[in-house]
Amino acid sequence: MSQFQEILTPYPSRLLLWHDDNKARKLKYNLQAARQQRHDTLLTFGGAYSNHIAAVAAAGRQHGLRTIGLIRGEATQPLNPTLAQAVADGMQLHYLDRASYRRRAEPDFQAELLQQHGPAYLLPEGGTNALALPGCAELVADIRQQIPDFDVLAVPAGTGGTLAGLLCGLGEQQQALGVAALKNGGFLRGEVDALTQQAVGQKLENYTIETGYHFGGYARHSADLLAFIREFQAQHSVLLDPVYTSKMLFGVLDLIRQGRWAAGSTVVAIHTGGLQGWAGWRERFDQ
Ligand SMILES: Cc1ncc(COP(=O)(O)O)c(C=O)c1O
Repeated sequence: MSQFQEILTPYPSRLLLWHDDNKARKLKYNLQAARQQRHDTLLTFGGAYSNHIAAVAAAGRQHGLRTIGLIRGEATQPLNPTLAQAVADGMQLHYLDRASYRRRAEPDFQAELLQQHGPAYLLPEGGTNALALPGCAELVADIRQQIPDFDVLAVPAGTGGTLAGLLCGLGEQQQALGVAALKNGGFLRGEVDALTQQAVGQKLENYTIETGYHFGGYARHSADLLAFIREFQAQHSVLLDPVYTSKMLFGVLDLIRQGRWAAGSTVVAIHTGGLQGWAGWRERFDQ
């Protein structure tokens, strides 16, 4: 099955939608490193509805690794669908109050956690670290095999790790666009630059980040966004997720409409998944 489909629009740029799971791409070389370092446990962090928590739990089950999820906030029962599935996949859950959670990247705190939970390969929140990038760079090679001459690659941005990885796989002739899923996304440029610097020894300039399509902030939504998701599904038979891909596609279509790219150019937008989030979303908002 080919992984892309054309999204027909009335505008002169061509829009192709490529389906790919960025979480699995970010995990690939981290899992390899965990095995090389002879770890049998992955320990990571995330919010209660996190796609990354879901992905790590599933990867642990698939690869025979124990998984520990340190979840932001209070434990609630029954578990929401994301956490229930993580537990079904074998993940052990522990909860961190918000003040502790803010310390998740501090080496001292991480050392304490490893003391407490035992030796483990530590994955940061969202799975973004230097080893996440090469897996995402490979995604570009896979796209090129089927779509050799696209002009722009668009992706949602949360931590910026996926975008940074794509940049490492792109030549200078092609552009990347990140659409921030959160408010005040201006900081993402610094994050992406630091990551590419770490991975390939230089900042890469051929990208822009759009910060105006966050719909109120991370995991926030509006009636407009939900209407867009419904219309997109009705017209193109594709379900978008409410946190990342819907905001990215809304932004990309808006920019195409505004004539951001020359007539005849091809924009490939990456549908990064995240559909597991709908179950928890419906539980919270569809009463
Ligand atoms: C579905 C989905 N799309 C996009 C992203 C954003 O990726 P990144 O954090 O690498 O910017 C995430 C976050 O993991 C995600 O779950």
